[in-house]
Amino acid sequence: MKNKSLVSINDFTREEQIRILDLAEEFEKKPTQKILQDFVVATLFFEPSTRTRLSFESAASRLGAKVIGFSEPGSTSVQKGESLRDTIRTVSNYSDIIVMRHPKEGSARFASEVADVPIINAGDGANQHPTQTLLDMFSIRKTQGTLDNLNVAFVGDLKYGRTVHSLVMALTNYNTTFHLVSPESLKLPSIVKMHIKEKNLTYYQYTDILEVIPEVDILYMTRIQKERFSDPIEYEQVKNSYTLRNPMLENAKPNMRILHPLPRVNEITIDVDENPMAYYFTQALNGVYVRQALLATILGVK
Ligand code: CP
Repeated sequence: MKNKSLVSINDFTREEQIRILDLAEEFEKKPTQKILQDFVVATLFFEPSTRTRLSFESAASRLGAKVIGFSEPGSTSVQKGESLRDTIRTVSNYSDIIVMRHPKEGSARFASEVADVPIINAGDGANQHPTQTLLDMFSIRKTQGTLDNLNVAFVGDLKYGRTVHSLVMALTNYNTTFHLVSPESLKLPSIVKMHIKEKNLTYYQYTDILEVIPEVDILYMTRIQKERFSDPIEYEQVKNSYTLRNPMLENAKPNMRILHPLPRVNEITIDVDENPMAYYFTQALNGVYVRQALLATILGVK
């Protein structure tokens, strides 16, 4: 895995994904280890982020790496018209690995083709978010004790939600039963459903969240991705489709845990935060350990 880019979750085999999760458990026990002192990590964020950028930077800092980069492309030469190709080739000369978020689907793959250093996709448009997937898998394994044979519900914007796309693809390796809850206009794209069908797994589609709550081990809530809608009226029609409240959880299985990649807008009321089933803030913390594991592995130190 040394020097390997991570653009799609399928760039890592099931065994490689598990290796990252196992290593993340080691970093969870000992998060501060100065093993990347000789390395420079670049974080290039062409789109807003709180968790992904800061957890990557926290992960790199805890391992002793130097961090360079930007979160405001408007303050860089992109503003003068510099191409993505030239930006990536330039930053390749200044760093040992590039973590990039970009609004265009396919941009991370393109960057990996022109860069001289590995690229980690931190989200490319509505396509994929593979490092989120690894921390989601880590969180599922931690809360359920296994990744195998689980009932997992995905709720909300399944059309544009990139975290959903890459997590569904990863979970097809674990005999998952998928419960897909969305408004009619925001169903999981056929291309992602094809991955489920290829593995002969079962998925059910719903519009009512209450139908799935008693059935599932993981309730994966998502935000309606306002920034991906070309028509604001269409967004207005679906923006309040699902709001999870404590009374709705009364019939949930005791082992059920609520995940959300965050940020949330109004999908989960804040009283749910105190419910023992709520796991989303710990899920975000797990991102540091998983990203430490990724950096250390791809830079060839672990
Ligand atoms: N989960 C996630 O990608 O969050 P950010 O947009 O804050 O990075």
